[in-house]
Amino acid sequence: FVLIIDFGSQVTQLIARRVREAGVYCEIVPFQSAEEAFHRTRPSAVILSGGPASTAELGSPRAPQAVFDAGIPVLGICYGQMTLCVQMGGEAEPSDHREFGRAMVEVVADCPLFEGVWATGEHHQVWMSHGDRVVRLPEGFAVYAKSDGAPYAVFGNPERKVYGLMFHPEVVHTPDGAKLIENFVRKIAGCTGDWTMAAFREEAKEKIREQVGSSKVICGLSGGVDSSVAAVLLHEAIGDQLTCIFVDHGLLRKHEAEEVVSMFRNHYNIPLVHVDVSDLFISALEGVADPEAKRKTIGKLFIDVFEAEAKKIGGADFLAQGTLYPDVIESVSFAGGPSVTIKSHHNVGGLPDRMNMKLVEPLRELFKDEVRALGRTLGLPESFVGRHPFPGPGLAIRCPGGVTREKLEILRNADAIYLDEIRKAGLYDAIWQAFAVLLPVQTVGVMGDGRTYDFVCALRAVTSVDGMTADFYPFDMAFLGRAATRIINEVKGINRVVYDVTSKPPGTIEWE
Ligand code: XMP
Repeated sequence: FVLIIDFGSQVTQLIARRVREAGVYCEIVPFQSAEEAFHRTRPSAVILSGGPASTAELGSPRAPQAVFDAGIPVLGICYGQMTLCVQMGGEAEPSDHREFGRAMVEVVADCPLFEGVWATGEHHQVWMSHGDRVVRLPEGFAVYAKSDGAPYAVFGNPERKVYGLMFHPEVVHTPDGAKLIENFVRKIAGCTGDWTMAAFREEAKEKIREQVGSSKVICGLSGGVDSSVAAVLLHEAIGDQLTCIFVDHGLLRKHEAEEVVSMFRNHYNIPLVHVDVSDLFISALEGVADPEAKRKTIGKLFIDVFEAEAKKIGGADFLAQGTLYPDVIESVSFAGGPSVTIKSHHNVGGLPDRMNMKLVEPLRELFKDEVRALGRTLGLPESFVGRHPFPGPGLAIRCPGGVTREKLEILRNADAIYLDEIRKAGLYDAIWQAFAVLLPVQTVGVMGDGRTYDFVCALRAVTSVDGMTADFYPFDMAFLGRAATRIINEVKGINRVVYDVTSKPPGTIEWE
């Protein structure tokens, strides 16, 4: 087990990704609660993340001294390297020459961190980002790599198994970084690398049984990967103590409701309540054009319906949710103030308080791709596991302006054709998320000999790692032409198709 102490770097989660890819389980804690977490979890190694502070600032964050006194392997990255240096008796100072971005390092001595990747005399690309610089090494430490701007790019003490890197090994711009992290956790720290989904599945089932005993559990299914995987795992663990509730708000993609219901009832034999409340939702949305108002209307109604259905089942003590690790990591904020709400995300948050139920969150230690791997281990079909993310408020936020049943039907049909073309072109898995948007704009066209005055459909496709940032997908024009022709020919109500070439930021992925 590896503990990652977060000093507020933007990429701390990536350190955790790399450690887990090396088959080693790890968790992230903010530096403020690191002392308690360190003593409670007794890790076999610690990684100190980067961060925006400078060791010279009064009150700048430190790692618990116990980390260095315990004699376990420690890896410090950027700010983590600086605080490690200072806390182990070295010296660092703010540098007037800050270095960011791509840099080359020269390996000056062989080092256990470099085993199998880097050798003395070689030059390698890394991603630098630092403000402070080391002026004196702690006793017993040596330099293993340097760059033009950083004479101590890598230092360490092999006897104490403590190393510091001035660059970020966790980002893809350090091409050998993953291997350096693997060397640290596997070779230097001696972790065995047996963190697999098969092992997780058995452990998670055990934990679920322990937590819920013989109580009943309800689980809200959305048709998305997370809640589906959670439901199947729970069902393996506790069988018919589990009931799933699928609130069909009429804002789903084409055939989605049938697919979800049939998979859970017929394939997995999981007790499932299917509530078709599309009329309720669509009439509540009538005349609501503001994006936030739409999101709030849907979120509130969803909770009302879910609560009413749960009451009918009666007596459930637990509510299961597909919460993932990125949602539970308490991130470190140096800005201090509350961040701006860009969108009010709708999920089933708010339910447990209102219903006075305890939560079961079997996926709260996993990242999205790990959930997908677990889904495959559980036998969920690839078409389900590999699905693009879909927002809780569904097609309503892909219909800017007022939502009507007719508009939703037009959008559903266009979206299905677009995704069909993407699949046929073999591009589905290369794209993080793709969908159609129906604009509340009518334009003039000509079809056959007649004039048309129909809606504009916008197509969106992005690549992303986590949905936080995204690039538009560079389709070739022939593909876009094919998709547009089919949509205009086959969907009544659309006579023009445009492609969205906005990245995030400044755009968001969804249009509302
Ligand atoms: P944005 O549009 O904010 O979206 O760039 C980032 C990712 O989040 C999804 N999204 C949501 N997911 N409930 C969800 O479960 C929501 O209310 C919601 N809003 C956006 C979006 O589809 C994208 O994957």
